[in-house]
Amino acid sequence: MKELLQKLTAAFGPSGYETNVRELILETIKNDVDEYRVDALGNLITRKGTLKENGKRIMISAHMDEIGLMVTHVDEQGYAYVTNLGGVRPLNCMSNRVIFENGTEGMLCARDLENGKIPALNQYFVDTGASSRENCEVKIGDPCVFAGNFVDMGDRWMSKTMDDRIGCYIAIEALKELKDSPNEIYFVFSVQEEVGLRGAKTAAYSIDPEIGIALDVTMCFDTPGLVERNLKFGAGPCIKAKDGSLVGTPWLNNAIYDAAERAGIPYQIEVLRGAGTDAGAIALSRSGVPSSAISVACRYVHTPSEMVDVNDVNQAIRLLVEFVSHEIK
Ligand code: CO
Ligand code: ZN
Repeated sequence: MKELLQKLTAAFGPSGYETNVRELILETIKNDVDEYRVDALGNLITRKGTLKENGKRIMISAHMDEIGLMVTHVDEQGYAYVTNLGGVRPLNCMSNRVIFENGTEGMLCARDLENGKIPALNQYFVDTGASSRENCEVKIGDPCVFAGNFVDMGDRWMSKTMDDRIGCYIAIEALKELKDSPNEIYFVFSVQEEVGLRGAKTAAYSIDPEIGIALDVTMCFDTPGLVERNLKFGAGPCIKAKDGSLVGTPWLNNAIYDAAERAGIPYQIEVLRGAGTDAGAIALSRSGVPSSAISVACRYVHTPSEMVDVNDVNQAIRLLVEFVSHEIK
């Protein structure tokens, strides 16, 4: 199991460049699903089971893409300047390493710390070791991601892409475990979430689900200095009441709480001031879809060192299997 997550988190896959991640996932699950297709944007849409009496068509979505940067221009000295692909905070860029798809690595730095202030993203450049534009291994339009190994810390795991390869991992493990269900379940591995929930939008249109669930990370508020203390490590998966993209559908959330209680799984209620997940896009598809999210509390989101609690991950898998295996009302 851990080896799979290690491979998933290591795969290169900034928004719009998810092919490596998709191929790895497809290889892992193609014998466990009844049908699969890749749509025009690159979403991997898989189906498990067929609709039975009292069943529902459910879309489960985990995004394959990770945040990254894209080269805007390379100057005469060979420094590559960048813009963001998704929610990259300038603060988290200072002095980090990045890696390009061709294997080129570089140091991400800014001209100066103006009076101790964090530079804007357009002041950052990648030093790939090049000495001129001509011998620079990267060019305009090339995407890169933070470098950050998978680290097994025992009860916790850390890597550059827990957001959202942990969601992909939960979906993979759940669909492998899943046996009988009255529901027709579409497990979607979506593209371009980090740039505006784009893949989930087209996938939801084509699936036309009756229920939408996103699997993603959420903020963990149990580290020093954070005001809100409502989400923490080890307290179980988080069920979405609200974020910047969605108000979780109350009857659906109640059905998820019931599933958790049935199976003796601890859970937390997730209220975020901002941010969003694929559930926000599914909810607004066609004439509207009752939607929510099952999230895993994650420390240091959108840094090269995103950290999750192993027990929370395992409980999220159990909760998802329990929830989709039964009639939902
Ligand atoms: Co994210
Ligand atoms: Zn995410």
